[in-house]
Amino acid sequence: MEKPAQARSRPDYGIDAPGVVRNLFVAGSVALLVSVIAYSGMLPWKEVARALVRMGASMAVGFLGMGSYMFYSSKVSKLHEREWLLDLIPWRGDETVLDVGCGRGLMLIGAAKRLTTGTAAGIDIWQTEDLSGNHPDAPLENARLEGVADRVTVSTADMRQIPFPDGHFDVIVSNVAIHNLYQASERAAAVREIARVLKPGGACVLADVLHEAEYASVLRTSGVTDVQRHDSSITSLFFAMMTLGRVRPFVLVARKP
Ligand SMILES: C[S@@+](CC[C@H](N)C(=O)[O-])C[C@H]1O[C@@H](n2cnc3c(N)ncnc32)[C@H](O)[C@@H]1O
Repeated sequence: MEKPAQARSRPDYGIDAPGVVRNLFVAGSVALLVSVIAYSGMLPWKEVARALVRMGASMAVGFLGMGSYMFYSSKVSKLHEREWLLDLIPWRGDETVLDVGCGRGLMLIGAAKRLTTGTAAGIDIWQTEDLSGNHPDAPLENARLEGVADRVTVSTADMRQIPFPDGHFDVIVSNVAIHNLYQASERAAAVREIARVLKPGGACVLADVLHEAEYASVLRTSGVTDVQRHDSSITSLFFAMMTLGRVRPFVLVARKP
């Protein structure tokens, strides 16, 4: 069970797609059980048992491996990844920053830590199927624990209608959030909103697992013309392998002239 925020002494950025992680562990455990039962000789059909051992074992390795990696990634590697992503921006310290789909504040707070006089705002609709313990209090509590509460604000808002004026932000970040919109037209609306609220001369970092070409194209047609792609290294390779190329994490760093 989740620890109440007041009892925590360290920030907790939650587990991404907790339902998927749970299902992978359940499926992996069932496959392992089938394999063990088949191996124990309890089944009367030898050929079937041998096939079940092999199939169960390889499915168990796949599901449990993927589940463990997703858990490890949420608990450990996403903190390193956030610093790598934020290093892609040449910070001055006085920027106005927006985190789109900020969840428990991973990027929002990482950005706020790089500010001196600037401010960081997060927007989200707090879907718990996308992130465990997702709630507006969570990023605020994490910001307090990380010593940046004075620079951080959060609002409940949909990324398809960002409640800020045109050209308001110097830097916009969004990490594994936009793909949660299932229709291409909705994702395009979100990316157009990001382009709208970005200042001329400002930069955005969009990191996600799907729809790279789509985001790049909408950015360009919305006036954010300088779009560069970065591979998210090991994570990218791992997901591409495990999902036979379907999921390929990427990072777009884009500037508005
Ligand atoms: C996988 S979580 C990632 C959270 C955070 N960016 C991070 O890196 O830890 C995806 C986030 O996108 C948010 N989200 C999904 N659809 C959204 C929408 N239409 N508008 C705003 N936020 C949304 C979810 O509530 C969730 O917090």
